[in-house]
Amino acid sequence: MEFLTFEQRDRVGILRINRPKALNALNADLLVELREFLGKQPCPAELRVLILTGAGEKAFVAGADVAEMRDFNPLQMRDFCELGDTVTGLLETKAVVTIAAVNGYALGGGMELALACDFIYASDNARLGQPEVTLGLIPGFGGTQRLSRAIGTRRAKELILTGSHIGAAEAREMGLVNRVVPQAELLEACVETAQKIAGNAWTAVLQAKRVIHHGDRLSLTEALAMERDACALCFASPDQCEGMTAFLEKRKPRFA
Ligand code: CAA
Repeated sequence: MEFLTFEQRDRVGILRINRPKALNALNADLLVELREFLGKQPCPAELRVLILTGAGEKAFVAGADVAEMRDFNPLQMRDFCELGDTVTGLLETKAVVTIAAVNGYALGGGMELALACDFIYASDNARLGQPEVTLGLIPGFGGTQRLSRAIGTRRAKELILTGSHIGAAEAREMGLVNRVVPQAELLEACVETAQKIAGNAWTAVLQAKRVIHHGDRLSLTEALAMERDACALCFASPDQCEGMTAFLEKRKPRFA
């Protein structure tokens, strides 16, 4: 892989976008690498939680590559957006939990990658935003839709229509970012949370992720029916009996 590095610690993986000279900007080759990595069935063996971050201390991802995009015709731009949508869709629906470790600028396509992850931790120096309108385009990897769903249409409109960047603390106040930590501690904070998730009953974790994701797009009645079915499905996993038995026996569960 030219633009990605991957390191695995037990069931937790750290995937780094590694193009620091261009602040990890997303060109088509980099997006293809991300698509190939995330599309592997299954992802690297035993992987339960994937932390996505950027190389260097300045940026998570400073957006799609403006130098590459400038001369695209509309059809090339549509293909590029489709590639971005495939990658963000994989982050959102893959049978692993995804955490964005936003370690600096997360702008444009970078913010869109982070929004597709299950949740975001950010370093105290992070800057987030959708500056596309300052360049003559709009977010093309899902930003108009996922940002609105994450923080509401009014705040999303303000951010997207002004093209402004916001700091980590403000993003935290909006509920866009779950936690803000000093940059030097960001990765370890993500790993700690990831290990906690990876140690839980795995069928239950994946069913919860699936129901929250799909439920968002359904009526409450349909979503509650899906939740009931998913809750029942957990009882097909030995982890349910183990979890409840361990509770009753006052010991730690030994999940598969
Ligand atoms: N594309 C291509 N190159 C980029 C880039 C991007 N999105 N962001 C930064 N770079 C490059 C710069 O061109 C520069 O390269 P050189 O050293 O060769 O000149 C290098 O990274 C360092 O960047 P700066 O010198 O600009 O660093 P800075 O500290 O002065 O500013 C920044 C940092 C505020 C993030 C600034 O680089 C910036 O505004 N970048 C662009 C952010 C942006 O507009 N992103 C949205 C892109 S559009 C998009 O993503 C569309 C979509 O949804 C599909």
